Formats: sequence, C-alpha cells, structure tokens
Amino acid sequence: PASAPAHRPLPKAELHLHIEGTLEPGLAFTLAERNGVTLPYATEDELRRAYSFSDLQSFLNLYYALMEVLRTEDDFADLAHAYLARAKEQGVRHAEIFFDPQAHTSRGVPLGTVIRGLARALDAAPEAYGITTRLIMCFLRDESAESALATFEAARPYLDRITAVGLDSAEVGHPPSKFQEVFALAREAGLKCVAHAGEEGPAAYVWEALDLLGVDRVDHGVRCMEDERLVARLVADRIPLTVCPLSNVRLRVVDDLADHPLPAMLDAGLLVTVNSDDPAYFGGYADDNFTAVRDALGLDDATLRTLARNSFLASFLDEETRAAYL
Ligand code: ADE
Ligand code: ZN
Repeated sequence: PASAPAHRPLPKAELHLHIEGTLEPGLAFTLAERNGVTLPYATEDELRRAYSFSDLQSFLNLYYALMEVLRTEDDFADLAHAYLARAKEQGVRHAEIFFDPQAHTSRGVPLGTVIRGLARALDAAPEAYGITTRLIMCFLRDESAESALATFEAARPYLDRITAVGLDSAEVGHPPSKFQEVFALAREAGLKCVAHAGEEGPAAYVWEALDLLGVDRVDHGVRCMEDERLVARLVADRIPLTVCPLSNVRLRVVDDLADHPLPAMLDAGLLVTVNSDDPAYFGGYADDNFTAVRDALGLDDATLRTLARNSFLASFLDEETRAAYL
C-alpha cells in the first residue's frame, strides 16, 4: 500500500467517504481477474493515467465504469477492509461511509449482497482496526425520484444497518427538491439526512438541502461562500460541512489548493471538517488531506486540531462516545 504518513496523524473522524471511491487500481485488477471482468485498461499504470479529470462528470464516468469489478459479497468486504486498513494509518477512529446502491443494483448486484459484504468488514472494524463506523445510503441524483423511492423501499429490511441517507452523483440540473419525498420517508424511519450540495451546483442547492430535505449536514457546500445569508444560516444552525480539499482540486471546483476557501469558511464560523471523498482517485486519504491543506494554506497546529475536533462534533456518534474524543 502507498505511504503511511511519516508523522503521527491526529485522531479524526472521516465523514465524507464513498466506499466505491476507495477502489485502488491494484484491487480493481485483482477483482477483475477473480470475476472474469475485462477492464478497458491493460495495466495498473495505464488505469492510473486515466485519473485526470476536467470536472465531476469526467470523474463519475470512470468511477461507475470501474465498479463493474464489484460483484460478490466478498468483493464488497475486501473493498471495505482495504479502506479500513488505510484509514487506520491515517488516524481515522470513526468513519461514516457512503455507498451507492443504485450503481450496483442497476448492474444486477442485489442490494443485500452489497450491504452484507460491507457489513461484514464494518462489524470487524472496531477489533481489527480500532475504527467505529456508520453506513450512509446515497441516492444517485441523476437517476429519477422514483428510482430513489424504490431503492429506499428495497432497503427497508436493512435499515437497522443504515444511519443516514445521502444524495450524490452529477449535481447540476438535479436539485435537492427532486428528492423531497424520499428524504421525508427516511426521516420518518428515524434516519439522519445528508446531501452533496454546493460542490459544482449553486448556493441555491444548499438552501434546498436545508429547507426541503432537512439535512443534518451538507457534503462539500463550498459554494455557500457565494451567499452571505446562507453562511449566516449555516453558522446559526451549526450545520456541519464536509469539505474535501484534494477532491475539489482534482475536480476543478477550485483552481489550486492555495485558493481553497477552507480558511475563509473557518473564519466565518462554519463547522467545517476535512475529508477525502474518493481517495483512490484524488490522491489522498484523510490525513493526506490534512497535510495538504496545512502545507498549501499554512494552517497552524491549533487550526488542524480544530478541524479534527470538528470531525467528531459533526459526526453521528452518540453524545457519550463523541465526548470521549473531544
Ligand atoms: N460520488 C462520488 N464522489 C462524488 C462527488 N465528489 N460528488 C458527487 N458525487 C460523487
Ligand atoms: Zn462525495
């Protein structure tokens, strides 16, 4: 595996992590061979060279294509184990993990296969890696509202394993308002709610996520900085934002890490956390993101400790467990 940090990483929670986005080229080829899937790349190096993105969609195309290798319960368990081993090296003590059921069920992989495979690894994680976990089931916003509703109904037998619902995939043209009904059902079922908003989409989508979906956290949310009233609302309601700095650079949400709005967000009083999004694709896991913002933005140790503390404050851990980390 790639380098563990040289320093001792701060203990932290990872709150924005797509498990499918942790599929490293090596494991992709291993699973392709195991399942008799032919990848459109001859070697790991050739695949790695495809990791050059112009926007969110150009990344999503590769992200969905590579999922082809994930077919069995073992595949999902192996994927999650590989992530957890990396996360441990990066100081992650708690991980709230997204998965995209529709990206698998649409390929004929049953929802139960996905959830049982992931759950097998997550159940072993406290003992094996010293990491507690939660699962967040995301709806693909570029699929229909009906498909999201059908996915939620299919997940009812597994809701005891799922902490929250989320919303991801291609943002522009697919506002949160499209998913009001399924989020209302999730809330009625006692689940927390999060949504990607204000990554490529406008600040208006963050308003919708708050007012129409009732989200407990906003994923990305960096474009909130274009709307002063929205920032005031997020601060007043203590709504956490799960920011993903290396992702924002690779998907050209920001031109350069040195231009990232993270310091301005902290100065505005927002409850900001730093996360890795799709670390196999974006060049770094949780602590790699901490190190990158430290170096590019000149964050001091106190600010890094605030970010680590925020990650626990913003988590869905129960009060008692959370308090032990603060
Ligand atoms: N799915 C995986 N990563 C994503 C991201 N950064 N934005 C939207 N959907 C995603
Ligand atoms: Zn994401």
